[in-house]
Amino acid sequence: MADPRFSILSADFAADPYRYFAGLRERSRVHHEPAIDSYFLSRHQDVKRVLTDHEAFTTRTLQVRAEPVMRGPVLAQMTGAEHTAKRGIVVRGFTGQALEGQVRAVRDNTAELVAPFLPRGRLDLVNDFGKPFAVQVTLDVLGLDKRDQRQVSAWLGGVGEFITSLDLTPERRRHCLDCAERLEAYLVPVIERRRRRPGADLISKLCTAEFDGIAMSDRDVTALIINVLVAAVEPADKTLALLFKHLIDHPGQLAQVRADPTLLPAAIAETLRFTPPVQLIPRQAEQDAEFGGAVVPAGATVFCMIGAANRDPAAFTTPDAFDIHRADLGTARSFTAAAQHLAFGAGLHQCVGAAFARAETETVAALLLPLLDQVRHSPGARYREAGLYTRGPVALPLDFTPVRAGAAGLD
Ligand code: HEM
Repeated sequence: MADPRFSILSADFAADPYRYFAGLRERSRVHHEPAIDSYFLSRHQDVKRVLTDHEAFTTRTLQVRAEPVMRGPVLAQMTGAEHTAKRGIVVRGFTGQALEGQVRAVRDNTAELVAPFLPRGRLDLVNDFGKPFAVQVTLDVLGLDKRDQRQVSAWLGGVGEFITSLDLTPERRRHCLDCAERLEAYLVPVIERRRRRPGADLISKLCTAEFDGIAMSDRDVTALIINVLVAAVEPADKTLALLFKHLIDHPGQLAQVRADPTLLPAAIAETLRFTPPVQLIPRQAEQDAEFGGAVVPAGATVFCMIGAANRDPAAFTTPDAFDIHRADLGTARSFTAAAQHLAFGAGLHQCVGAAFARAETETVAALLLPLLDQVRHSPGARYREAGLYTRGPVALPLDFTPVRAGAAGLD
């Protein structure tokens, strides 16, 4: 930025990064952050280039950023035939018939979790509902016991903190590694049982799938499970809460979605463009790379700023407006490799869970909207978001018309 004191690691930036995106795109196309010796890119065109030029920009940085807590190499680190095969296994676990069963799990968990709040007419969509919902649904999909939700959430918190922290203290690092070890110790006997008696869940599929004629090792399966747990849980409650916040803040669009729920996919896609829950994607530059005269040196860590790229006027007209009808959104392609927004990344490592994320958010929102009549922000609640790497509301207290117990028809 023009101001040499500006820092992405500052409290001001953390409070509202969106205020700084235009300045970064226009005046500091390649922003260097000396404290962590990393480079930040904010233009749509530059971010897309980094994510799709797999020779020049690799995921090698994940060896230190993710592998220690994933207890093995994650999908995003792999390339070539190994990546194609293992990615295929995960995709199969989240599409077709498997997806139908998962949508049922989304419905059941929504009904169970929202029921106690309906007669009260008040709920915090993040802490009362979204967080437990995201974990429970993912546990269901994987075939893990939902009663372990609190414990697994706590371990996942440590794993997520390790991956998403830009400056981890040695004490926090130890804590995060401890969480990862405990999560691994919890998963190992489950994997053993699924190998002996496979079921219809994703862990069984991972255990029985073959790659190059060889079954995946326990280490492979463990890393993939932790990969899916973190990747599926971390953005889910954020996406849901951001969707509701934007709709409540735009009552006209909320009324349209209520009247015509087929608009929900557009509202979800626009939420992901406007406020992507994954704000940073790291890569390593394998050779010197030039962006408009500024050079990112070989070996450097590059962070793609998804929030800034998605607000780039070169890619979207009036990018700072939330508009579910925007002509340049392309709802149908927003959850595919052809998406114009970059909330799911781009290229080889683009999110494998995009179709599931859409089905999950659409299902839960379609169930919640009719139940939360006259939904509005609770009086006096101060809205705050947190997170540089993944970002979402800290809380979203909502008021709505109370529903008499038993009148919701959720059984
Ligand atoms: C709204 C929800 C979601 C968002 C915003 C999101 C975002 C992303 C992004 C930005 C990437 C690219 C990472 C990179 O290029 O390094 C990614 C990759 C990935 N996501 Fe998602 N994700 C979501 C939901 C899910 C779900 C539900 C799953 C469950 C399967 C999932 C599994 C993965 C996996 C396994 C990868 C790595 C893929 C690869 O390297 O080939 N994600 N996601």
